[in-house]
Amino acid sequence: MDRIRIIGGHRLNGTIPISGAKNAALPLMIASLLTEQTLILDNVPRLADVAQLERILGNHGVDIMVSGKRSGETADHGQTLHISAARIVDTTAPYELVSKMRASFWVLAPLVARMGKARISMPGGCAIGTRPVDLLIMAVERLGAKIDIEGGYVVARAPKGLKGAEIVFPKVTVGGTHTAVMAASLAKGTTVIENAAREPEIADVADCLNKMGARISGAGTRQIIVEGVAGLKGARHAVLPDRIETGTYAMAAAMTGGDVLLQNGRPELLQAALDVLVRAGVTVMPTNQGIRIVRNGAGLAPVDVTTAPFPEFPTDLQAQLMALMTRASGTSHITETIFENRFMHVGELTRLGARIQLDGERATIEGVPQLKGAPVMATDLRASVSLVIAALAAEGETIVNRVYHLDRGFERLEDKLGRCGAAVERLSG
Ligand code: EPU
Repeated sequence: MDRIRIIGGHRLNGTIPISGAKNAALPLMIASLLTEQTLILDNVPRLADVAQLERILGNHGVDIMVSGKRSGETADHGQTLHISAARIVDTTAPYELVSKMRASFWVLAPLVARMGKARISMPGGCAIGTRPVDLLIMAVERLGAKIDIEGGYVVARAPKGLKGAEIVFPKVTVGGTHTAVMAASLAKGTTVIENAAREPEIADVADCLNKMGARISGAGTRQIIVEGVAGLKGARHAVLPDRIETGTYAMAAAMTGGDVLLQNGRPELLQAALDVLVRAGVTVMPTNQGIRIVRNGAGLAPVDVTTAPFPEFPTDLQAQLMALMTRASGTSHITETIFENRFMHVGELTRLGARIQLDGERATIEGVPQLKGAPVMATDLRASVSLVIAALAAEGETIVNRVYHLDRGFERLEDKLGRCGAAVERLSG
């Protein structure tokens, strides 16, 4: 198993190219199941989760061609996938595959919408909480699918196709909104989705679906209206930049001090997080190439932050902000409202010398003048990268174990940080 070795104390200076967003690329790839024609996706990040979804789609009979680099392109350019679901050979998504990556449950919507049936394993819990799928099931049920739970599988049947309906989410859910939008695209009649998630990835997927011939309006707002169509066609779409990767490197630069350009980063995708950095005393400058993050000399001020659905501060940056606040001069508070168990990084940050107390969903972080390197490990993607951020500022050597978590969502992390002056290396095996 690979590990990452970091020697802390180096400032970050230079340019970090931001990749395509994992959480847009995954549902975009899944949307390919809605059409017999080829969907071409550009700017797809090279991530373990993308490779895993390629295997899952392959199991349904989807052909994926990954084009090589064009002349003049480097590893900083994302890959292009040509995805063809001309013939779906299997409408079952088995436990072995779904349990490895929860987003694969989302194949439920396109399979039942196009094929009239789907049999998808319930994903089970995961490191950041119980993460139920009741609202995803509710969405397809509202559109007329008959649902049974059989042997740990959700079996959805709609032999005569889905029918437009009103879907009111009692709680904002990204996966639920993707499910409702994809299923409604091929339903007969109009669907109105209330209390929809407003995350930028929802609007990105809706843009792509509209290029494929869907009729979706309001994506990115609380109310989405979908006029169902009889069939969708192929299209070409570039994945939007990853706002969580952008925010993560912004916090890394804030942690070490220095001057970093987050190339292709788009401020409007993470304004709440950038506002928090400004409150902490970091200089944030939008430029026409991306976002420049500067911290020279001045210390970090403590902050009080609560995670919430977009456009508020994202849960996917909570662990990274906590790492940053371990070095603030004063006491910070971070409240996690999205996932009940997303504090697995706390124990590991403490091993590096952080002072953090947990009280239910609220963490109190007392800034310390110095962290000290140690061997650490984490149980999920964002927790792992928070340890990397802490390690970049810790005295001495930190070994981050279980790097496969990082590889799920960060493309060439050691390379991107290394090019800006961090002492980071991957230890293989
Ligand atoms: N929820 C339910 N029932 C459901 C669905 C969700 O109660 O049927 C609850 C969840 O337990 C949670 C809340 O609703 O408390 C929000 O969950 P949501 O459905 O929005 O999360 P998700 O769609 O499973 C996506 C991202 C996550 C990100 C969340 C929140 C992808 C592939 N995953 O998950 O990303 O944290 O939205 O923004 O888009 C990550 O990238 O590390 C990651 C975990």
